[in-house]
Amino acid sequence: MILRTEQLVMPALGLGTWPMQGAACQAAVESALALGYRHIDTAEMYGNEAAVGAALRASGLPREALFVTTKLWWDKPDGPRFRAAAMASLERLGLAAVDLLLIHWPSPALDLPSVLEAMARLREEGRAKALGVSNFPPGLLRRALDLAIAPLACLQVEHHALLDQSRLLALTEAAGMVLTSYTPLGKGEVAAHPAVRAIAARHGATGAQVALAYLLGKGRVAAVPKAASAARQAENLGALALRLAPEDVAALDALPKDRRFVNPSFAPDWAA
Ligand SMILES: NC(=O)c1ccc[n+]([C@@H]2O[C@H](COP(=O)([O-])OP(=O)(O)OC[C@H]3O[C@@H](n4cnc5c(N)ncnc54)[C@H](OP(=O)(O)O)[C@@H]3O)[C@@H](O)[C@H]2O)c1
Repeated sequence: MILRTEQLVMPALGLGTWPMQGAACQAAVESALALGYRHIDTAEMYGNEAAVGAALRASGLPREALFVTTKLWWDKPDGPRFRAAAMASLERLGLAAVDLLLIHWPSPALDLPSVLEAMARLREEGRAKALGVSNFPPGLLRRALDLAIAPLACLQVEHHALLDQSRLLALTEAAGMVLTSYTPLGKGEVAAHPAVRAIAARHGATGAQVALAYLLGKGRVAAVPKAASAARQAENLGALALRLAPEDVAALDALPKDRRFVNPSFAPDWAA
């Protein structure tokens, strides 16, 4: 399943790589690529870009077949530091360009126009094919869009059946952006939720497959579940073949949506 917008062409299901590092990360990414994954989600902060890069090369797959996202940490709140960090990420990945470059988290010190200018220049230079942001609440995303300094193709945020992201989904939809769902399995808890498992049982599927199919079925929504083993990677890939019935979607829509699994001390005011 491929998502296509004016700005990007992205496989809807990718492999999350946090918190895997070193040889274990390389092995997991190699296994995922062998199974058919073509979208890999990494970040400067994960400390695994070199391992991801090694796996990409070991796969023997042509560069154009791969979609690689990286994100730059929030201690680069201005254009010059953001640019230097982007070049260092490319170096570690061993790539001339990433497919998607994201601001990982907004920092209170973020000079948004300056960073967006640096991102736009990286895109013009062909270092990043598309641009986006992560962990931006609605007001800040609207501001970034209104500045219109850099074309924003993607918002990456926590998104699963137990968290309401309707405001951000409406914003990304209106802006023609993809919303990439991180922590799409709720770290395994959504996959294990009784209501999710009941739907899975009706389809002969697993809870993880239902959790992912629910997100991917929304349209212009991607998901990057993390799975270390080939067995779970294959299981998650199986979500692409699962079609939920309208009553399944209604049951998942009706679940309480107040569980946020990723909420560090430096997180923004999510309602802002
Ligand atoms: N932008 C951001 O700030 C941000 C924040 C958080 C995450 N992310 C990205 O999103 C990715 C995914 O998020 P996440 O790792 O927080 O959570 P997740 O993908 O919701 O859950 C990962 C957990 O679920 C388990 N799992 C995987 N497949 C499963 C299956 N089929 N059945 C049951 N359990 C399964 C994994 O275990 P095993 O691996 O041991 O199998 C792991 O413990 C990250 O790796 C990262 O790339 C981005």
